[in-house]
Amino acid sequence: MPEESTPRRERKRTVQQMVIVGVIATAIGIAIGLSIHWFPPADSTQADQIDTLWDVLVIATVPVFVLVTVIVCFSVLEFRMRPGEENLDGPPIHGNTKLEVIWTAVPAILIVGLVTYAYVVMRDIEEAPAAGNERVVTVTGQQFTWTFAYNEGGKKFSTAQLYLPAGQSVKFDVKSKDVIHDFWVPDFRMKIDAVPGITTHYRVTPKNPGAIGDHPIVCAELCGLGHAFMRQTAHVLSKPDFDKWLQKMTAKPAGGGGGGAAAAVDAKALFTAGDADTGATACATCHTLADAGAKGQVGPDLDKVLKGKDAAFIKESILEPDKEIAPGFQPGVMPSNFGDTLSPEQVDALVKYLSEVTNK
Ligand code: CUA
Repeated sequence: MPEESTPRRERKRTVQQMVIVGVIATAIGIAIGLSIHWFPPADSTQADQIDTLWDVLVIATVPVFVLVTVIVCFSVLEFRMRPGEENLDGPPIHGNTKLEVIWTAVPAILIVGLVTYAYVVMRDIEEAPAAGNERVVTVTGQQFTWTFAYNEGGKKFSTAQLYLPAGQSVKFDVKSKDVIHDFWVPDFRMKIDAVPGITTHYRVTPKNPGAIGDHPIVCAELCGLGHAFMRQTAHVLSKPDFDKWLQKMTAKPAGGGGGGAAAAVDAKALFTAGDADTGATACATCHTLADAGAKGQVGPDLDKVLKGKDAAFIKESILEPDKEIAPGFQPGVMPSNFGDTLSPEQVDALVKYLSEVTNK
């Protein structure tokens, strides 16, 4: 009968149109998804595998998104209510068992495939290198700074900036002193929460020589007012440069050691330039101090707030900056890890210097 063949032909045409639109939209979607540079440079050996995983996910998910969107759009157009159909109810439909089996099985197979692939990638990037060829750095988060503790041949020291050799695996033991933080170096791709009470881990191998240079470290978990400022730097050095840095660090008198052969600390230079070896921030970056020619505005003007204060107060202000806050300033802005990143000699020299120049 002619009445039957016309709608069937029309439906066939509709399906053809949907397929054409779907294929074109999928191609465009995948092309856009793959051509946008979503991530910063891939500077660890783990990063390449993670970026490939991302690309595979884009290729697998764009067709699914397009399929659903195209069917929804065509259905809205094709089966919309037309004038005169206001009171009509559609024909009763029982369902379609074959269709339901297909739309359950296909996504299930897709998901099992992607999960398996993701698991294989994760096992690969977490694999430990051959014994002995790995350095452990303990990363401690606290409001609002990171401290990096090294243990090199029994010699322990801490820094405010991260130093790593290119081409060697490093395992981070991540801890927190207060709330949950998240240790993230976007260029390395890996990240993990720093949770009070437990130690979490991940490992990366900065590329050699591709990763040599500076990489931002970010706290990726909202942890309080200073969360946005909890940013430091990972310096990736060539192996010879790193060894030179290590030598300098291990040659320093051990923390707390009274041993005494330490060269006299130039407190004014320390105030102005910080400690380049540990990455301890220069006081002058944030504070004003006439004697050092410092004009920082972030923290209190030291010529004013330290006037008439004794050495004990100054020492406390350096080591536990949040204990007493000058009026008009906020806690959590000044790094609270100077006790780790400066040696006791450096702290004492700073206290002596500040006490002298602010009480002239
Ligand atoms: Cu620490 Cu956000």
